[in-house]
Amino acid sequence: MKNNQRKRGTQTSSFGSPGRVNHDSTAFYTSKLYEGLLHERKVEYTEKSTPSQFLDEIFCKSSEKMDELPDNSIHLMVTSPPYNVGKEYDEDFTLATYLNFLKSVWKEVHRVLVPGGRACINIANLGRKPYIPLHAFIVNDMVDLGFLMRGEIIWNKASSASPSTAWGSWLSASNPTLRDIHEYILVFSKDMFSRKNINKRKNTISKEEFLEFTKSVWTFPAERARKVGHPAPFPVELPYRLIQLYTYQNEVVLDPFMGSGQAAIASIKTNRHYIGYDIDETYVKLADNRIREFSMEFNSPTLFEYDNAHPIPHLSAFERAHDPS
Ligand SMILES: C[S@@+](CC[C@H](N)C(=O)[O-])C[C@H]1O[C@@H](n2cnc3c(N)ncnc32)[C@H](O)[C@@H]1O
Repeated sequence: MKNNQRKRGTQTSSFGSPGRVNHDSTAFYTSKLYEGLLHERKVEYTEKSTPSQFLDEIFCKSSEKMDELPDNSIHLMVTSPPYNVGKEYDEDFTLATYLNFLKSVWKEVHRVLVPGGRACINIANLGRKPYIPLHAFIVNDMVDLGFLMRGEIIWNKASSASPSTAWGSWLSASNPTLRDIHEYILVFSKDMFSRKNINKRKNTISKEEFLEFTKSVWTFPAERARKVGHPAPFPVELPYRLIQLYTYQNEVVLDPFMGSGQAAIASIKTNRHYIGYDIDETYVKLADNRIREFSMEFNSPTLFEYDNAHPIPHLSAFERAHDPS
């Protein structure tokens, strides 16, 4: 009996199923729950080359139109959009106008992604009275544009989250307030969940990274704005993990809101190409400078000699992957 069951694999049952290997989930996916939801489309895999003069470039213009990029040419989009909260680059849009602006960028992203290409959006929710669940609005817009949702990652910023004391009514049930120490990374695919690898490009993710990065909660510290020189940078670790998990070597990563260039730096570290957009010339210059400095350091052999002589006591997943010792 046991052996037969193992051969046939497990099935979805009222009590869940013991293992997920060789699991037959047909009953679940053909249930009424999935009626009316967008399904994978069978499309032929087409991949156009990005013109070489546009590779590893940041364009100083709005990403609402990314005319430089052919359809089906980008393998991964990773970004953190402007928040419309009064930072120097933010507009004072109504919520509807703001979401429409973002939606026009997501529509362009859909056009330029290859079939199966992934789109990852890092976003935090806003306000308290009431709370604005930006992540929920963006999920709706992405699904409306035809993206398939793969999942959502909770980024636990842990000890680096701002030590807010805005807890509302102290030690009283009258009106205690939640203090967010997390952000979201929403993950989508265009047309289909799996990626074709027609050019036989290499995977670069290690076993340890795969085990860690496929979990839905990620814990690592935020980046310090002052250190980077941009008001809202994400840490390089964030795009690094997404690039390792979702792309093959030498593929093209797009950040339509490039800011200080963190996604580009993660792309260089992982041997991928990047393309970025930012509307603010100061940030484009900042990103270009940071990328140049990083590339020089990254390609310098003396860096590794130094690291070996002075081992770093705590290494993040990203640093571990590049620790030569
Ligand atoms: C949250 S920041 C991105 C930070 C970036 N992830 C980093 O690590 O530095 C958003 C960026 O979007 C840029 N931006 C705002 N409106 C834009 C638009 N229409 N097109 C392109 N970039 C825009 C802003 O100048 C800002 O640098």
